[in-house]
Amino acid sequence: MKKIILTGDRPTGRLHLGHYVGSLKRRVELQNSGEYDRVFIMIADAQALTDNADNPEKIRQNIIEVALDYLSCGIDPSKSTIFIQSQIAELCELSFYYMNLVTVSRLQRNPTVKSEIQMRNFETSIPVGFFTYPISQASDITAFRATTVPAGEDQEPMVEQTREIVRKFNSVYGETLVEPEILLPENCFCQRLPGTDGKAKMSKSLGNCIYLSDTAEDVRKKVMGMYTDPGHIRVEDPGKTEGNTVFIYLDAFSRPEHFAEFLPDYSSLDELKEHYRRGGLGDVKVKKFLNSILQQELEPIRLRRKEFEKDIPEVYRMLKTGSDAAREVAAQTLSDVRKAMRINYFDDTELIASQAKRFRAE
Ligand code: TRP
Repeated sequence: MKKIILTGDRPTGRLHLGHYVGSLKRRVELQNSGEYDRVFIMIADAQALTDNADNPEKIRQNIIEVALDYLSCGIDPSKSTIFIQSQIAELCELSFYYMNLVTVSRLQRNPTVKSEIQMRNFETSIPVGFFTYPISQASDITAFRATTVPAGEDQEPMVEQTREIVRKFNSVYGETLVEPEILLPENCFCQRLPGTDGKAKMSKSLGNCIYLSDTAEDVRKKVMGMYTDPGHIRVEDPGKTEGNTVFIYLDAFSRPEHFAEFLPDYSSLDELKEHYRRGGLGDVKVKKFLNSILQQELEPIRLRRKEFEKDIPEVYRMLKTGSDAAREVAAQTLSDVRKAMRINYFDDTELIASQAKRFRAE
């Protein structure tokens, strides 16, 4: 069986470090590994509209931002198909049929939907489109016969729901769809990077994100202002490394060679943490170390972004080419689905012949 990747992001803002460690960096590695027959990266604008129906302009403006973030991280249009969800009408039709295979109570139990409903204060008035977006996400994944969905752990319920739809579809209509698997980040610290304020998640509305497109100075300021251990007041005080945002970021980003390069007094993160816990190590020193590491990681991304920003029409052309290519693949799957569901009336010569025979006999 072919190995195919599909994943994507909602274009509600520029992409940040949470996206980068949670998924983006891995996608580039997977793209370059040569192990996959095809890689599809989707800008999920239709999904973004399910909870931004009154603000389409926000989505419209952010499509190019996300595309630039992809390109600057190293997603290469000659290896990966980058496309815009709303341009693939076939996905809607798939969703319409999948809706018959999912119950309302199953959607209500989806933990990601549940927590998003709470976060958005939708409890009393949930838009139907939002409520059913896991079904639309199943269409995204299955339309491209994806075997692998690289994503953060918050997407696990979506992929599980997709797998259920696939099994149900195949058992009712015959083997047609491919059951996908989620590919979680390898480093467990990357599964959910906290915001710079120590809150559970980077989120634009909380203003606690480091964006891939932030300037070097913005990044430095954000790192120097990061939440650490509020009990660690003087340098001599013993400090906590657990739940300390700077150390969580170091868990996610630091590699042994960073010590020789930027902080040669220490040979490993364990040693640095040990000193912090004992007391005598100041926040500023640790933050400067983190800043050096992040700058080294982000600088090439920033430089590439500057290059792509010089030819924006070319980025839109790339998105159109990708969307056209994606549509062809989705149309083939839709055709298989219609056939399996026996709603392919006009290209089914057997149906027409047998009906003709039935009416002759009557
Ligand atoms: N739900 C994803 C997010 O919020 C975006 C998304 C839409 C997606 N369709 C997908 C991710 C299919 C993986 C596969 O970021």
